[in-house]
Amino acid sequence: MTTPTLFTPTRLGAIEVKNRIAMAPLTRSRAGMDGVQTPLAATYYAQRASAGLLIAEATNISRQGRGYAYTPGIYTDAHVAAWRPVTDAVHAAGGKIVLQLWHVGRMSHVGLQEGGAAPVAPSAIPAGGSVFTEQGFEPPSMPRALRTDEIPALIEDYRQAALRAQAAGFDGVEVHAANGYLLEQFLRDSTNQRTDAYGGSIENRARLTLEVVAAVAGVWGADRVGVRLSPLSTAIGDTPLDSTPMQTHGYLVAKLSAMGVAYLHVMEGQMHGGNGADAFDIRALRAAFAGAYIANNGYERQTALDATAQGRADLVAFGRAFIGNPDLVARLRHNRPLFDAPQSSYFGGGADGYTDFTQPQAA
Ligand SMILES: Cc1cc2nc3c(=O)[nH]c(=O)nc-3n(C[C@H](O)[C@H](O)[C@H](O)COP(=O)(O)O)c2cc1C
Repeated sequence: MTTPTLFTPTRLGAIEVKNRIAMAPLTRSRAGMDGVQTPLAATYYAQRASAGLLIAEATNISRQGRGYAYTPGIYTDAHVAAWRPVTDAVHAAGGKIVLQLWHVGRMSHVGLQEGGAAPVAPSAIPAGGSVFTEQGFEPPSMPRALRTDEIPALIEDYRQAALRAQAAGFDGVEVHAANGYLLEQFLRDSTNQRTDAYGGSIENRARLTLEVVAAVAGVWGADRVGVRLSPLSTAIGDTPLDSTPMQTHGYLVAKLSAMGVAYLHVMEGQMHGGNGADAFDIRALRAAFAGAYIANNGYERQTALDATAQGRADLVAFGRAFIGNPDLVARLRHNRPLFDAPQSSYFGGGADGYTDFTQPQAA
């Protein structure tokens, strides 16, 4: 019997992977308030190292980029020192791991910002939804619009974070331009009402993402940089869609392709909702990109087998399934049942529901 494509090796730019299963980035909110990972993170990621690619949880590129308590950072030497055992443990277990670079933009709260400052955004339009502070879930604070002259320093924050990710031993980085955070806020005309070179036309709204990717690629080489997009998701911040998602993302993806970016990682459809295949031509988006394509959102064993066998995706990223199934690759391979981790284990806490699960007793 031939091995199904899902379990065969491939490469994303310069990153060689042993199978087509990626672990989607998953915020688990188990770092310190200073953004320093605990030693548990090394155990957690190493447990999942049979995935072809681990995409480590969204990680703040700066203090300003923070929107949730207990999320990790990559902007101090202490952050680098705390990530190093994670990458070492993953590599010792035969895995590959990239870091997702995160700036939340308006999805933040004054209580998480230096000196109680307002969060920054393309325009002063408040987000919906909620962010997680030390006090629990709270509505995001009113943001202020970034001044044009602040943008070079913002791009420099991404570059410094990319350098630190390299010092921490990652195999590459994923620029988080999805899920209603800063770069997507710039991309969508629903959240970007700027009149400078970073607002208005599609070219202008895509500019910040492209400049960030160029800066990060200057550190890593484009063949170790991926980009995450979510053209159809409104889930985080109740962020309204762009008025022309296909054109906006089509333009961006063609530019990323020309830059030689290693992979595109698309959250297809609405987060934890429908796959959205009818509302958006994911295949056209993929066709516009020369590098590898990672599909995500609601994939199951059969849909992942099909997508990779039919060449619709190079890899499939699984999110929730990896929380309760560190051995997901083996379970998919042998068609074993999956454990459905309770949502109460997702964010915060210690080892329980992170590196350990008390398996529920059979009824
Ligand atoms: C607990 C949790 C944390 C998440 N954290 C992140 C994150 O840090 N970065 C990100 O881009 N997406 C994040 N997501 C979205 C997942 O990466 C993924 O897109 C989503 O769960 C859909 O995939 P799935 O159906 O396989 O779970 C998170 C999802 C969950 C459930």
